[in-house]
Amino acid sequence: MKLLVTAGPTREPLDPVRYLTNRSSGKMGYALAHAAAHAGHRVLLVSGPTALEVPDGVDFLPVETAAQMFEAVSRHIGRMDAAIHAAAVADYRPAATAEQKIKKTGETLTLELLRNPDILGSCRDAFGFDGVLVGFAAETGNLEANARDKLRRKGCDLVVANDVSQPGIGFDSDRNRVLLVHPDHTEPLPEDDKHALAHRIVHEVEALLAAKHRA
Ligand code: CTP
Repeated sequence: MKLLVTAGPTREPLDPVRYLTNRSSGKMGYALAHAAAHAGHRVLLVSGPTALEVPDGVDFLPVETAAQMFEAVSRHIGRMDAAIHAAAVADYRPAATAEQKIKKTGETLTLELLRNPDILGSCRDAFGFDGVLVGFAAETGNLEANARDKLRRKGCDLVVANDVSQPGIGFDSDRNRVLLVHPDHTEPLPEDDKHALAHRIVHEVEALLAAKHRA
């Protein structure tokens, strides 16, 4: 299959030397790209800035901001059979990016932020994507209910849900414990290395694609 994977954080510039970002390491997305390429699939990895090496045999499209990731996905998703959105996209960006470094003046500084476009949420309607669509949900409570709500709202075939309040797993870790949330059932997976989970998730996407072709 042809598979698009988004990964990593996005970086939203405030001025030439500062940006807003998050703790995503990109490990889960890169592990997914690696697992899929290893299984013989054609992979395009659209990634925000990370410290990771691009896996062998993977096409790589580096981006910085959510707007750039949106543009890259909108340009390439049309020829994909499946898309896994593992990126931790910043929900907001600074309303303005200063051309010069912002100098300190008063005791407080207020930033105005604007909502970023929802890349995963644009796939079905705005991009017209009808392949297998997988999202991630990072939650700190009501994991399954919130993930199922996300699955419906964004038109996903599968949401991989993880509880980011658990220490030692998830964000910036080599391990994770996730729920596979399908439209009609949920499967909890035991805590595992992100590479093992990636193989499992790629397998699930292969099965969803096969089922779509049979339908
Ligand atoms: N996502 C995206 N574009 C965004 C935000 C998120 O594509 N601007 C994708 C992520 O890659 C992930 C999923 O959407 O697959 C996460 O959904 P989101 O609604 O951002 O989850 P939370 O951050 O948990 O959302 P909420 O603010 O609703 O808790």
